[in-house]
This record gives sequence, C-alpha cells and structure tokens, in this order.
Amino acid sequence: MIDLAPPIPAVQTVGLTRTYGALTALNALDLTVNRGDLFGFIGSNGAGKTTTLRILATFLAPSAGQAKILGHDVVKDADAVRHVIGYMPDFFGVYKDMEVTEYLDFFGACYKIPTNQREKTVSDVLELVGLSEKKGALIGALSRGMQQRLGLARVLIHDPQLLLLDEPASGLDPRARIEMMAILQELQRLGKTIIISSHILSELQTLCNRVAIIEKGKLIYSGPVQGVRDQLATGLVVWVKVLGDESRAIELLKARAEITAVEALAGRIKVTMTDHQADAGCVAETLVQGGVKLVGLREEELGLEEVFLRVTRGETQ
Ligand SMILES: Nc1ncnc2c1ncn2[C@@H]1O[C@H](COP(=O)(O)OP(=O)(O)OP(=O)(O)O)[C@@H](O)[C@H]1O
Ligand SMILES: [Mg+2]
Repeated sequence: MIDLAPPIPAVQTVGLTRTYGALTALNALDLTVNRGDLFGFIGSNGAGKTTTLRILATFLAPSAGQAKILGHDVVKDADAVRHVIGYMPDFFGVYKDMEVTEYLDFFGACYKIPTNQREKTVSDVLELVGLSEKKGALIGALSRGMQQRLGLARVLIHDPQLLLLDEPASGLDPRARIEMMAILQELQRLGKTIIISSHILSELQTLCNRVAIIEKGKLIYSGPVQGVRDQLATGLVVWVKVLGDESRAIELLKARAEITAVEALAGRIKVTMTDHQADAGCVAETLVQGGVKLVGLREEELGLEEVFLRVTRGETQ
C-alpha cells in the first residue's frame, strides 16, 4: 500500500513563546522548516533568534506553545531530539590546549561512538569541513574561521539530521564566510536540514531556499527568499525627468492615488508609489496624457537589505 501520509516536517513550532520576566522574547511563533531545507533565520539584535534555537536544541524551556523536531517534542522527548540535532551556539568555548582530533574524539565518546569507529568518523567530519590537514594542530593555533569550522565538525560527529547553527559566520572575513557557506551547501546536498541564523538577510539570499524573518519575537515573514521583496517592500521609487516646467508634472502626479509622494530634486522628480507592485507605467501614462514631455524614467531597485531594514525599523505594515 502506498503511504499517503504527509511527510513529517523537520521543525514545527506552534505558538512558541518565551518570556523573561516582563519581556516577551518570543511571541507565539509558528514556524515550519521542511526536511532538506537550508533555512535562513533572520532578525536584528535581540529579535529572538538565539532564544528560538536554544528552545529547539532543548537547552531552554518554552513558556508556552510547542516545538517538534522530526516529530519529537522538545520538552517531552528531549533525549530523542538531542540525538537528531547538532546545535552550534553563537559563542562556544574551545579547548585551546587540545589537539583537533583529540577534541573531536572526546565528543565522539560523549555520543557513545564505538572506539574502533571513532577515528574514521573524526577523519570524515574533518574532511567535510576542510580541516584534514589540521588533525594534529592545537586548537589555540587555528584561525577564527578554522575554529568555526571545527565547531561545525563537532556538531556533525553523531551524524545528526538537523543542524541548528547560531550565526556561524559571524566574525569571519569574507573569504572564510564563503568557505563556511560552501560547506553548508555541501551538507544540504548530503541530505541534512540546516537552520542558520543571521542578522544579514542579503548574506543568506543566495544560500538559503527559504527564510524566516523575526522582529521583537514575532514572525514577520516565512517563505522563499524571492517572496520577501514582494510581500514586505513598500514604496517603489521612480525617478523622472521632464522637458520644461516641472510644476505641471508634479501637479498631475500628485493627483494619482497610487502615488504617495512627489518631490523635485536637482532637475529630476522623485515619485514614490504606494507599494512594490505598483506599476511605474502609470507615471509615464499620467505625464504623457497630461501633455508633459517625458525625457527620462528610471525605477529605483530596492535592495533586499533595504527591504529588511525598513521592515525591522517598523516602516511597513
Ligand atoms: N537570559 C535572559 N534573561 C533575560 N532576557 C534575555 C535572556 N536571554 C535573552 N533575553 C532577551 O530576549 C530577547 C531576545 O534575545 P535573543 O538572544 O534571542 O536575540 P537574538 O535574535 O539572538 O539577538 P542577537 O542578534 O543579538 O544574537 C532580547 O531582548 C534579550 O535581551
Ligand atoms: Mg543571538
């Protein structure tokens, strides 16, 4: 018989809430991450990313709501959850006087990987994160980027299905970031589900297939990266240049309902439309029909980061 039951999501939270005294750090979060996703979890400082990841990793109890990881409840089945996840905190101490292999072997033992398999497992994870050549090195002698990759190797040691990575690229130089991102893509290709938090949306733009944006503990967007702009962007800007007197053009444009602001700036007119989907064509049409000679029209492309900044500054909705 064919099993028609829908697949179990990798992560599902319903009404997940966490308070610290009077502060609601996480406010009724409903989030679904599918298996195989490389999922970006975006929010500015204090948005609630670490709080969420710590709850998913069973290190912090929710105040209300539920969270399930591959069908296991993070509170009731915490042990089962710990076996299927690899959690890399935002700040983790490394044992600087230990050798790379010693360190990983130690964590392998914690996960009860049999002694005769540990050498191969350690060697495999080091290969995955590109640290094979550093086997005998002291951790204290590794660069920041290498230490981050070692942190990743550590959470891979028990071959978890889901990785929860709290800002794994923070503090890395551009080259080390790119290396980290390439490793994450490889891990996704190997079938892992990955949640990576960041406060830079554009950094995850090409990496992640889906993203969620949270602000002050609330989910403001969840879906494909391409959807962010359509759903959240407001105020498409169109620059126009007309021949002769600008005042007639300004008057005509101000009369349109789709246009929220019209400003004359250094020989050009800046036109702000109500939303991103508003058609710049209506600007041209209005001017031409009103008998104004249009000599130039340019749409200002709103960058993804600009959209994110507007959203998190509360300039939309
Ligand atoms: N142990 C705690 N006690 C009291 N308040 C806390 C505690 N941990 C977090 N908070 C508060 O909860 C809110 C969310 O914090 P959280 O660390 O989850 O944010 P974040 O999105 O990870 O931020 P960052 O980008 O700075 O890491 C913040 O207002 C923070 O001050
Ligand atoms: Mg954090």
